[in-house]
Amino acid sequence: LGLKKEVNVLCLGLDNSGKTTIINRLKPSNAQVQDIVPTIGFSIEKFKTSSLSFTVFDMSGQGRYRNLWEHYYKEGQAIIFVIDSADKLRMVVAKEELDTLLNHPDIKHRRIPILFFANKMDMRDALTSVKVSQLLCLENIKDKPWHICATNALTGDGLQEGVDWLQGIVG
Ligand code: GTP
Ligand code: MG
Repeated sequence: LGLKKEVNVLCLGLDNSGKTTIINRLKPSNAQVQDIVPTIGFSIEKFKTSSLSFTVFDMSGQGRYRNLWEHYYKEGQAIIFVIDSADKLRMVVAKEELDTLLNHPDIKHRRIPILFFANKMDMRDALTSVKVSQLLCLENIKDKPWHICATNALTGDGLQEGVDWLQGIVG
């Protein structure tokens, strides 16, 4: 009764991509904060869906903190990878970090689901989720379930579709 399956999720992606804004949006409105600042190190957050209770490791995407990510890979049961769709200059950096993640020994041989949020879709020069998917070569990921959604974390558009997919795959 009221018991939900617990799932650990790692929220990864470059700094300024919108990870903390997204996680904040997934929390109940009375738990949401107004002012979001760049994450230092990482922060542990929780949100629930109809059948699951998610514990999120919201990692800092700043270069100096990215070496922290791998320490949590073993505990992660799913990954949310956030991309700033308008940051064309750093798309190659996002791809490098994704490739490093996919080749890590604690990730490489696991069928861990990855949910990609092609965020900041509201920006005038944002790439489409199809284009983001192509630039990150997502079609090469054949041994893990993955899904990409176009999102606007400021309004919440697209987030529910992604969470529904995640719930279906880990639930
Ligand atoms: P780090 O903690 O440094 O790794 O960054 P982060 O990925 O957690 O990014 P954060 O959520 O702090 O958001 C960075 C900035 O992007 C903030 O000013 C957000 O308001 C803004 N932002 C987040 N999502 C969106 C979006 O969908 N559209 C627009 N226009 N801005 C967004
Ligand atoms: Mg953050």
